[in-house]
Amino acid sequence: MRILAIETSCDETGIAIVESKGSSLVPKTIRVLANTLVSQATLHAQFGGVFPAVARREHAKAIVPLLVHALTEAGLAKKLKQERILSKKEETTLARIFHKEPELFVLFKESLNALKVPIIDAIAVTVGPGLEPALWVGINTAEALGVLWGVPVIPVNHMEGHIVASLMQTKDDGKTFSLAMPRFPSLALLISGGHTELVLMPSRGKYKMLGQTRDDAVGEAFDKVARMLGLSYPGGPEISKLAEKAPAHEKLSVPLPRPMLKSGDFDFSFSGLKTSVLYAIKKFETLTDRDKELIAKDFEDSVTEVLVTKTLKAAKKYKVKEIILGGGVTANRKIRKIFQESVAEELPDTKLFIPTILLSGDNGLMIGVAGLLRSKSKKHIVANGTLKLAKSVSPTLDELRKRK
Ligand code: KG4
Ligand code: ZN
Repeated sequence: MRILAIETSCDETGIAIVESKGSSLVPKTIRVLANTLVSQATLHAQFGGVFPAVARREHAKAIVPLLVHALTEAGLAKKLKQERILSKKEETTLARIFHKEPELFVLFKESLNALKVPIIDAIAVTVGPGLEPALWVGINTAEALGVLWGVPVIPVNHMEGHIVASLMQTKDDGKTFSLAMPRFPSLALLISGGHTELVLMPSRGKYKMLGQTRDDAVGEAFDKVARMLGLSYPGGPEISKLAEKAPAHEKLSVPLPRPMLKSGDFDFSFSGLKTSVLYAIKKFETLTDRDKELIAKDFEDSVTEVLVTKTLKAAKKYKVKEIILGGGVTANRKIRKIFQESVAEELPDTKLFIPTILLSGDNGLMIGVAGLLRSKSKKHIVANGTLKLAKSVSPTLDELRKRK
């Protein structure tokens, strides 16, 4: 089965083409035919965060060229001798899909009508959670491709994409992956710019929310604290670099709080921590580079301690066999290291999955692989900015095969 996947939930336009061999519901080997990404991060850096309308505009500019790029990379962009003429029905359907994006419609027709229909079995697309205006660009493009190529569209939950990214294991050159099948129950900690969730997975494709942030997501806290320290967006990697410069033996005179560490539940809260950073900054008359490094380090330590403590507590309570970390914040070296050390020490029989750095942030590849696993195509797909994992559709690859 060959899937073209589209990710536009935030500020990364990602398109990938993946192929699985065999008919198993859990593909053993996944070949990456194309994996392309355009990031808007430098643009959003000017504003210190992502504005949904700007993100939408940039996705709409990037998506068609990126599609052609991905098809070319996969060797699937075959030019037609004569441009394809759409039937009246196709034209009407596509016009309806793109009714709010006439420029994108023009771009879409110009590029796609010049190409032969590629051998693609389905389109996978992120339908949420994320920024709805941004999600719609991906969904509309996916639906339009579905019409043009006569293939089903598979809705994918972005957070499930992050879980799947963690289970992907590079075979050699980054072009072939195997997919680890976790033993259940598993526990997923999802940490990104928009989410902080501890999710229990009692069985495959089933999710139960154990706890989540009551205010800011971890990545959001990293981004906001970075801004306070005069660092650019996205702040996570910047804070991390700064924290690594701080001398190991030096500490902030008044340490930052470890929010909700002993709350007795599995919820998180990072907004107060952000305010504590603001107060810590204000205490200094002039903030030296060393002060900034110490603040960054204690902030990172605080976040890490809270995440690790709560995750391990949940893992013990629910006797999970695996812990799966997912989301952009898993790129953080400190978080990766402390999780590895703590799980090895406290839960030696539990396997820890962490995505490779390349797959930790948003990308089309994880959506493609999640799409391979969940192939229910819906008649009416809508963007859902607050889509919950528990609402995910169940795997129905067979249904998809029947439709073909
Ligand atoms: O999953 P992701 O790419 O996008 C969302 O779905 O939100 O996560 C992006 C978040 C940003 O907040 C970014 O600052 C954070 O991940 N991030 C990091 C690091 N790299 C990215 N946070 C901490 N340390 C990092 N090294
Ligand atoms: Zn994400």
